[in-house]
Amino acid sequence: MEFNGFQLISGAIDAAGQAALVEEVLAAANAAPFYRSLTPSGKPMSVEQTSLGAYGWTTDADGYRYEPVHPLTRQPWPPMPRSLLALWAVHTGGETPPDSCLVNLYREGAKMGLHTDSDEQDLTAPVLSVSLGDTAVFRLGGAARGDSSRTVRLTSGDVSVLAGPSRRFFHGVDRILAGSSRLVPGGGRINLTLRRARA
Ligand code: SIN
Ligand code: FE2
Repeated sequence: MEFNGFQLISGAIDAAGQAALVEEVLAAANAAPFYRSLTPSGKPMSVEQTSLGAYGWTTDADGYRYEPVHPLTRQPWPPMPRSLLALWAVHTGGETPPDSCLVNLYREGAKMGLHTDSDEQDLTAPVLSVSLGDTAVFRLGGAARGDSSRTVRLTSGDVSVLAGPSRRFFHGVDRILAGSSRLVPGGGRINLTLRRARA
């Protein structure tokens, strides 16, 4: 599926590849534990997050931003997995590699409100997202918050890319279909968002 530069590559990652990614991300989360960020207005996000790579996206009372260290451990984020760099190379057509992978863990009931990705220095660099585990009901709108939107189901192994005009489009996760996959230990969904934070 393609829409204004948004691309959904269904089934991009096979079952073995999905299992390997989950294992790798959960191992990294031993060193860089999942935590719940506070929005700038002080509300805890419903997703749990950590990051891989040189920069991690985070938020607290000081606002949305990228940081080189984990907010709790104060240690650099674990390295970006090579498998993710390979996916990026294939599905972005060889764009400059990402320096950030945000890991979102959606346990039952977690969701992500409508937003744009706009904390990166170069807002023309694509965003690549990997879905693992439970299916997400993803919402893709337009450049303005009030624009009409469409629903896209993201299932385990899907890769999606926000490029072109869609790079600046509003998007979010309305809900997770709990129990639709058994991939993630303890249930839920892991989303990996690869971005270039610094130009
Ligand atoms: C996000 O846009 O930050 C996350 C999208 C997703 O979980 O699929
Ligand atoms: Fe986003």
